[in-house]
Amino acid sequence: MTNNEFYWEFWGAFVPPSLEKTLETLNQEFDKYYNTPEFQKDLDYYFKTFVWRPTPITHLENISKELWWAQIYIKREDMTNIWAHKINHSLVQWLLAKRMWKTELIAETWAWMHWVSVATMWAKLWMKTKIFMWEKDVRRQYMNVQRMKLLWAEVVSVTQGDKKLKDAVDAALEYYINNTDSYYLLGSALGPYPYPKIVRKWQEIVWKECLYQFPEISWQENPDYVIACVWWGSNAIWIFSAYIDKENVKIIWVEWGWTDVSTLWEHAARMKWIWWKLWTFHGYKSIFIQTKKDEIASTSSISAGLDYPWIWPEHAYLSEIWRAEYEYAYDNEVLEAYKLTAKLEWILPALESSHALAYAYKLAPSLDKDKKILINLSGRWDKDLETVIEKL
Ligand SMILES: Cc1ncc(COP(=O)(O)O)c(C=O)c1O
Repeated sequence: MTNNEFYWEFWGAFVPPSLEKTLETLNQEFDKYYNTPEFQKDLDYYFKTFVWRPTPITHLENISKELWWAQIYIKREDMTNIWAHKINHSLVQWLLAKRMWKTELIAETWAWMHWVSVATMWAKLWMKTKIFMWEKDVRRQYMNVQRMKLLWAEVVSVTQGDKKLKDAVDAALEYYINNTDSYYLLGSALGPYPYPKIVRKWQEIVWKECLYQFPEISWQENPDYVIACVWWGSNAIWIFSAYIDKENVKIIWVEWGWTDVSTLWEHAARMKWIWWKLWTFHGYKSIFIQTKKDEIASTSSISAGLDYPWIWPEHAYLSEIWRAEYEYAYDNEVLEAYKLTAKLEWILPALESSHALAYAYKLAPSLDKDKKILINLSGRWDKDLETVIEKL
């Protein structure tokens, strides 16, 4: 099954025949339920009472003064009940899984935001949950693994392959192919069609809120710049979507650049550099970073949540049509941004989100006083505290 309705050659569903039917059913069930008043009513109710929406926009007044001129605002996805944006689509997929009478949720994971959100939804629905993680993450995210276990999720430690996230995805996909009655709860806008379509749709709440909140707090209809960190691309596309058709708004995504320019071959900055290629992998076609030997590259990152060589098809498309700019931040800049935000604003961001802050803090001093920057603060600090203490 392929779908050419979106984003040129990016996208598609390249899966074994046994999964084709499951994905088609998912697509149909999504189209059947999503726009019904009952579904929207449930969504509205749980967004308000369980996810704690709307999340506010905060003006970073002290930092804006310190950096001397442009005004910086953050959309507070760190203030949902799991402290990250991932809960938004977990909630919606949970509502769909419930309507599809699924009894088991599965997910692969990298950073704990996604699996905590999945486990949280499990605990609420009383569904069996299996989370596939690569071995190193099970160790480096010890506290969060314990948290998941308290939420009664089963953590499957993946040891085959390179022990990287892609192996956790492989393991989860393999399980899904053999257990098509389960619901594969994807944590970002990726994977075979229809996942990118439905995950994108399920986060529209974020940009809808921005459209009325930003003018209220800034006295300007739209920001001049919108900035987000990108890994697979979900938090970025949700905030960018409000502004893609507004030509005066500059869209900037920030990837992970590791320590300095000498480590280029292991960074995860996919768009800024030339050595990427169109590949079909994990069921979809998009841009992947490649090695000198023409293989898919292995990345390393200070933040578990940006450590991946793939990119969501719509971002690949936005890059191709020059609608978005692609930048990256080095680890030391990320840690400086983290420290500055903590010191001046009393806000501790996730390391992923600190990439977006780092770039904005570099950009702000070069802009006029009346320019306004909106950043998506995709998550908060807790999961990264040990890493930050170690690095600082
Ligand atoms: C807090 C946080 N921000 C951002 C990301 C990046 O994911 P995405 O690009 O899908 O928003 C992650 C990934 O786990 C995350 O945990």
